[in-house]
Amino acid sequence: MYQPVKIAPSILSADFMHLADDIAMIEQAGAAFVHIDVMDGHFVPNLTMGVPLLKQLKAATSLVCDVHLMIDNPLTEIPWFIEAGADLVNVHAEVLTEEELVRAVAMIHEAGCKAAVALKPKTPVSVLAPVIADLDMALVMSVEPGFSGQSYIAGSDRKVAEVAARARAAANEAMLIQVDGGIGEVTAPLVAAAGADVLVCGNAVFKAADPAAALQTVQAAADVARLTALAGGAEA
Ligand code: DX5
Ligand code: ZN
Repeated sequence: MYQPVKIAPSILSADFMHLADDIAMIEQAGAAFVHIDVMDGHFVPNLTMGVPLLKQLKAATSLVCDVHLMIDNPLTEIPWFIEAGADLVNVHAEVLTEEELVRAVAMIHEAGCKAAVALKPKTPVSVLAPVIADLDMALVMSVEPGFSGQSYIAGSDRKVAEVAARARAAANEAMLIQVDGGIGEVTAPLVAAAGADVLVCGNAVFKAADPAAALQTVQAAADVARLTALAGGAEA
C-alpha cells in the first residue's frame, strides 16, 4: 500500500518563546514526527537543545519524537535521551567505529526505540553496511550539519537513491530514508522521487508566512513526485 511522505518539522527553526503553539500547529497541519536537533558544540560548532527540553516536549505531544544527535559521544548520551522520551534516535556514523555503530543500534533497540544512522554529506553510504539490515531509518544530510536555513547540496538525491538500493540489497525494504537540510517545495520532490520517506523541514515550515500551509505544500509536492517515480518504475 502507498505510504505518503512524512514531514518532520525541525524545532530548531521554531519560535522558542511560543514552542507549544508551534507544536500544536505542526500536529494539526499533519506532521508525522517532530525533529529535535541536539548539537553539542563539538561535533558541530552550534549548541542547541537537550534532555530537559525533550522531556517536556514528550509530555506535550503525541508526535514521534525524532532525536538527531549531532554530538561526539552518542554511546554515553543515548540512555539519557531514551529516558527523556525519544521514540527514534539518530546517531552520526562519523563519530563511531564499526563496532561502536553496531553497539549503538543494539543499545537503542534493546531500550525499545527505533534506531537511525545519519550520514554527513561527504560520508559514503558504505559505512551503513554493518547495520543496514537492522536499521529503522537512515538519515541523508543534504547540508553540512550545524545550522538551519542552509541551501540543499545538489546531488543529495543521488545519495538517497544509493541508500534505497543498499536497503533493498540488504532485504530491509521497511527501512525509512530521511533527508535533512534545505528541504522545501523545490527540493522535496527531488529527494522523494529518489526514495525519501521522511523529510525534515526547518525554515521551509517555521519561517513561512503560513507555516501549516507550507508544511502541506511540501508534503503534497513530495507525494506527487514519489507517486510519479513509482508509476515510472524509478524505484522498482
Ligand atoms: C542541520 C539540522 C537540520 C536543520 C534543518 O544541522 O540537522 O535539521 O535544522 O533546517 P532547514 O530545513 O532550515 O535546512
Ligand atoms: Zn536534523
